[in-house]
Formats: sequence, structure tokens, C-alpha cells
Amino acid sequence: MNLVELKNISKIYKTGAVKFIALEQINLTINKGEYLAILGPSGSGKSTLMHILGCLSTPTSGDYLLNGKNVASLSVNQLAKVRNQNIGFVFQNFNLLANLNIVDNVALPLVYRGIAKEERTKKAKELLTHFGLGGHFSHHANELSGGQQQRVAIARSLITEPDIILADEPTGNLDSKSGDDVIHMLEKLNRDGKTIIIVTHDEKIAERTKQIIRIVDGKIM
Ligand SMILES: Nc1ncnc2c1ncn2[C@@H]1O[C@H](COP(=O)(O)OP(=O)(O)OP(=O)(O)O)[C@@H](O)[C@H]1O
Ligand SMILES: [Mg+2]
Repeated sequence: MNLVELKNISKIYKTGAVKFIALEQINLTINKGEYLAILGPSGSGKSTLMHILGCLSTPTSGDYLLNGKNVASLSVNQLAKVRNQNIGFVFQNFNLLANLNIVDNVALPLVYRGIAKEERTKKAKELLTHFGLGGHFSHHANELSGGQQQRVAIARSLITEPDIILADEPTGNLDSKSGDDVIHMLEKLNRDGKTIIIVTHDEKIAERTKQIIRIVDGKIM
């Protein structure tokens, strides 16, 4: 079975009386174990597509089958549940909570699952240690470098053991060394079987993936 199947997906943003077609008739199939790069100019619809893939928003029309289940018209609460069970996110700006230490940041998705504190803290510490942050448990996000923050974000994305990792410009705010480290981590996760979808402006990063799609004006070329 395909992990992801998008059928004739369109997304239209309405701002007052103005309509903007951000995605137009997107068809895309993604198999388990894929490592897919999404390339395209600024404003072409990449993040809009990632938001739909990640169940952060729903399409205006079309079907989205995730693990065979149509999630295109779920309610906000149902979408949140699907996200928590299936998807891990890594963002350009890390999206860590400044008022929590990094252990609590990584453990947060398990709070929504109702996992007891002791268990979620243990799991978060294991992941952080795995990513070389064992000496930083009590640090807050703003006390870490960008590369370290992105490693925390990757640990957080993994704690729910999702099928898919969505990474929207994960190296966009990093120096080249930290960016390379992040890409190597994603490649390792893919070798271990995770499905990875990455938005990037960097052709060199895209070339290392298994499949590239290009989006221009909301359409796949
Ligand atoms: N919430 C929104 N309301 C109205 N228009 C939006 C909204 N979000 C995005 N858009 C518009 O949809 C288009 C696609 O935006 P999107 O963020 O998907 O582009 P992108 O390819 O990710 O660009 P970038 O490379 O700059 O991140 C843009 O023209 C943008 O202005
Ligand atoms: Mg974007």
C-alpha cells in the first residue's frame, strides 16, 4: 500500500474577496521508505503542500489518502490526532518552545498522547543522548546553537515514532557544517526505514535524495 496518495489536490487561499490558487491539481504518490525532495521558487506552494501532507491544513478539493485513510476533510481535532500518530515535523526555524528545557520540548508530543511523565522524560533523554545532546538536558532552546536546536527538533520529531518526517527547509537557518550534519541525520533515518520529505532550495541536497519533484506556480512540473 502507498503511504501517501494525493489525488487532484488543490488549495485556494481566500483573502477578503481575493482568491489565490496556491496548489492546483496535485497528484503525488509516496511509498514507504522514500526520500523525496521538493524544489521550487519562493511562493510556488512548497510549504502549502507540506502543511497538507502534514495534516496541518486541509485541501480545498481533492483526496489525501494517508496509510489508505482519507484525511482530506477531517475536523481540526481529528487532524491533530492523525498528526500525532503519523507525522514528525522539522522546520526551518526549529519551532522549539523557549520556556521549556530541551527534554520537555522533545517529550511534548507524548504529553498529547497521555504518556506518563517518567516514561516520556526517559524516552526524550535517550533520543537527545543519541543526537549528542546528553550534556544539555537542562538547557533551554535559546541556550543552544542553531545546529543543536535543529538536532533537538529532530529528536522531537522522532519521539512519537512517526511513519513520515516532513522537513521544510531544515538547513535554511544553519551554517553549512550544521546543515550537513542535519542532512546526514535525515539520510541515516531514511536508511533505517523512515520516509523523509524535504523542502529545500539547495540542489546539492536534492541530488542526494531518491526522488525530486519541482513545483512552479502551484503545479508539479
Ligand atoms: N495563509 C495564507 N493566506 C493567503 N495566502 C497564502 C497563505 N499561505 C501561503 N499563501 C500564498 O500561497 C503561495 C504559496 O506559499 P508557500 O508558503 O506555500 O510558498 P513556498 O513555496 O513555501 O515559498 P518559500 O520558498 O518562500 O517558503 C504564496 O503566494 C503565498 O503568499
Ligand atoms: Mg515555504
